[in-house]
Amino acid sequence: MRISVMDRCNFRCPYCMPEATYHEAFRFLGPKERLDFDEIERVARVAAELGVTKIRLTGGEPLLRPGLPDLVRRLSTLPGIEDVALTTNGVLLPRFAPALRQAGLRRVTVSLDSLDPVVFAHMSGGRGDLPAVLEGVDAACAAGFEGSVKINTVVQRGVNDAGVPDILARFRNTGVTVRLIEYMDVGNRNGWERADVVPSSELRARIAAVWPLEPLPPRYRGEVARRYRYVDGAGEIGFVSSVSEPFCGMCSRARLSSDGKLYTCLFATTGTDLRAVLRGNACDVAVDERLRTILSRVWRHRTDRYSEERRHSRLSRPGTGKASDRGKIEMHYIGG
Ligand code: GTP
Ligand code: 5AD
Ligand code: SF4
Repeated sequence: MRISVMDRCNFRCPYCMPEATYHEAFRFLGPKERLDFDEIERVARVAAELGVTKIRLTGGEPLLRPGLPDLVRRLSTLPGIEDVALTTNGVLLPRFAPALRQAGLRRVTVSLDSLDPVVFAHMSGGRGDLPAVLEGVDAACAAGFEGSVKINTVVQRGVNDAGVPDILARFRNTGVTVRLIEYMDVGNRNGWERADVVPSSELRARIAAVWPLEPLPPRYRGEVARRYRYVDGAGEIGFVSSVSEPFCGMCSRARLSSDGKLYTCLFATTGTDLRAVLRGNACDVAVDERLRTILSRVWRHRTDRYSEERRHSRLSRPGTGKASDRGKIEMHYIGG
């Protein structure tokens, strides 16, 4: 289960929260509109009873949520939860990595799209701080996450694809796994076009010409990244290819948005409001029972396969225009 704890972000990556929309006047959720930690813990406890074993905390930027280590402690000690992970832009990791580790966080993924300061500035909407992100990666390794740190790189043709080898070179032989993510048409505001996507097969061929690669088996059923290892033993990389090789059939992710809606797909248009159940006036036992019923009903009836549908639509071909506004949930409410 992926849990978004904060809809705000201190970056403005154009593929996620373009500044044109997310400017000073944009109305983010108020603190009372977000689920509080008791509510998140409650949903997670019921989800764990129903079989969820892994939780990933996301945003917006999850480290903007005050007291996040406290939430990590609560979630990582829930019966049945084996793994709590975090996806972050990294700038606040130097401050929080030790406390997160102590609280029981197991894995950290840092988003990093370029090592070129100009490209990085563009891809973080002018708000990112490249040295701080790199310090964040080091801080995570130093805090004991070594071997469990990943880098997420969203690849956009003509924007940062030429700099991918620099990122790989920097993290080869460090134990940090880089994952190269095909730019996706998440939300309705990033102006996605098929021509901006570099298919993983193309990228893989470019990389293998420099550093030969060989495939590795998935670590778990439903893993979104296809894993490869450098033949020279310098480590592993991953490809998240939801545009060119959709993996909807294997998807096992439920998503809880920062305002308490349950989604069964990253590209969903509607969610199920759990906040209303949590804040209704039923007694604790009745709320838990209601949550259990809703979670299992929603999960058993899900039919989402957006990425596979996209493959058969006009969006599968370059030059066929921009993704339409079908009212998809925006990325910063759902965290990927
Ligand atoms: P692991 O537990 O390490 O496998 O993490 P993860 O890959 O699930 O998490 P992360 O937040 O690093 O996500 C990597 C990329 O995959 C992001 O761009 C996500 O938006 C994307 N992603 C994750 N789940 C899905 C999914 O179900 N469908 C699609 N299309 N993309 C997904
Ligand atoms: N396409 C692909 N990945 C995206 N992310 C955010 N927006 C997009 C997009 N449009 C990535 C972030 C982060 C992860 C949760 O999702 O870079 O690493
Ligand atoms: Fe913030 Fe991550 Fe979205 Fe960038 S991709 S704007 S860092 S939430």
